Amino acid sequence: MFDDVLKRLGISDVNSGVYADGWIDKPGGEELVSLNPATGEPIARVLTAARDDYERVVESAQQAFQDWRMTPAPVRGEFVRRLGMALREDKRDLGLLVTLEMGKIQSEGEGEVQEMIDMCDFSVGLSRQLYGLTIASERPQHRMMEQWHPLGVVGILSAFNFPVAVWAWNAAVAAVCGDASIWKPSPQTPLTAIAVQHIVDRVTTEMKIPPICGLAVGAGIETGQWMADDARLPLISATGSCEMGRAISPIVAQRLGRCLLELGGNNAIILTESADLDLALRGVLFAAVGTSGQRCTSLRRLIVHESIADTFVERLANAYHSVNIGDPWEEGVLMGPLANERAAETMMQAVETIREQGGEIVCGGHRTDRPGYFVEPTIVRATADMPIVATETFAPILYVLTYKTLDEAIEIQNSVAQGLSSAIFTDRMQEAERFLSPIGSDCGIANVNIGTSGAEIGGAFGGEKETGGGREAGSDSWKAYMRRQTCTVNWGDSLPLAQGVEFDVGS
Ligand code: UN1
Repeated sequence: MFDDVLKRLGISDVNSGVYADGWIDKPGGEELVSLNPATGEPIARVLTAARDDYERVVESAQQAFQDWRMTPAPVRGEFVRRLGMALREDKRDLGLLVTLEMGKIQSEGEGEVQEMIDMCDFSVGLSRQLYGLTIASERPQHRMMEQWHPLGVVGILSAFNFPVAVWAWNAAVAAVCGDASIWKPSPQTPLTAIAVQHIVDRVTTEMKIPPICGLAVGAGIETGQWMADDARLPLISATGSCEMGRAISPIVAQRLGRCLLELGGNNAIILTESADLDLALRGVLFAAVGTSGQRCTSLRRLIVHESIADTFVERLANAYHSVNIGDPWEEGVLMGPLANERAAETMMQAVETIREQGGEIVCGGHRTDRPGYFVEPTIVRATADMPIVATETFAPILYVLTYKTLDEAIEIQNSVAQGLSSAIFTDRMQEAERFLSPIGSDCGIANVNIGTSGAEIGGAFGGEKETGGGREAGSDSWKAYMRRQTCTVNWGDSLPLAQGVEFDVGS
């Protein structure tokens, strides 16, 4: 099955991972082997970018930007429209490749491609809506306005867990904003990036437009550092761990560049006494176990009212036992493997630490006995003061904490360093509104009667505190990809100064 899929997506045994104004035939960087996390077996090999290959990618993107910035925005929108059509054609294949290389189940793999398509559709509309304001001038016969211009070449660093959608969040918006972009995908998922690049190549070649989307696969962290340090890239949009953000952002700051960061989360659901528990059960299960707990929006902490904690945890544990774990491409499987051996080991170390810190494992806590990087989804009864509860382990571990008053629950929810996603399950309007008020959740995303993960692209996506403060995808996130220009035009025949300042030599 996969041989045909790979072939249709242009993946061979050995692939170039570098695209400048076309594929670079034999890039000189270290070779990467992409593994199937469900078996630990190799899928294909990738040749990565050496420094001089990287230079070619940046130079060609800069060159492409020269034309692209003067292409009318609605015409730029036609590119993302065609890209969206091409993705529709390849949705099944590309979704399967995401499943094969990253390990998320097939429905989630296809969902991720749908997220790319949605992003393209959104960006088509956006291409006619890059609005600026007009502002009332204090001076007579003056007009003030702001306009938005293309920014330049955007550097995109994406993570393994959303190997294609997060590229689309950035690249589709950047394209209609008149920017070129270069993409460094996670070394864990180079093949999905190469497959996407083949689709982009098809569209740009057909449309005879400049190569505005470049690709530079890197084997380690070096390529990301080159990008962070490269003053030719005015914006670095980076998705990954807080640790990665801490490494990248000072380098970008040093050259006074702009960073858009989407980093770690430690997302919580507050489960109140009044909640519809059937709804909550489904919401918690998808948020905690979906994508094997490897979304930045995955549910890590369930803060449940003490009066319903025991019964809810029992129901939840039963649901956990019926989760079908297995090959992510098989029908009926709800949970695939973790990304790699290190991820599985990290989870097992976390389980050790949980025990040391006094947590009670309700269910799970082991690796499963089969090849690949499979683990059991795990529920832990814990307390908010256990240090491990404040950290993000990128694995399906759910901490259950209890509370007495809503104020206490909100305080627990906000007590961690990260601030990405949050939710409350309640049927009481007062509780919901309090959670959404300025004294409620401190996260970038706050939901009512919906889990923490699975956001739609129409909203701005990102979070506060150590999550990095960036916003991607919908709403007005596009503004990060453009430069704002404030223009004042004097159409009169005198030169009054603002703030009533007089400055004249007299005549
Ligand atoms: C991520 O895990 O980095 O809201 C992105 C969600 C997805 C995106 C997750 N739409 O869970």
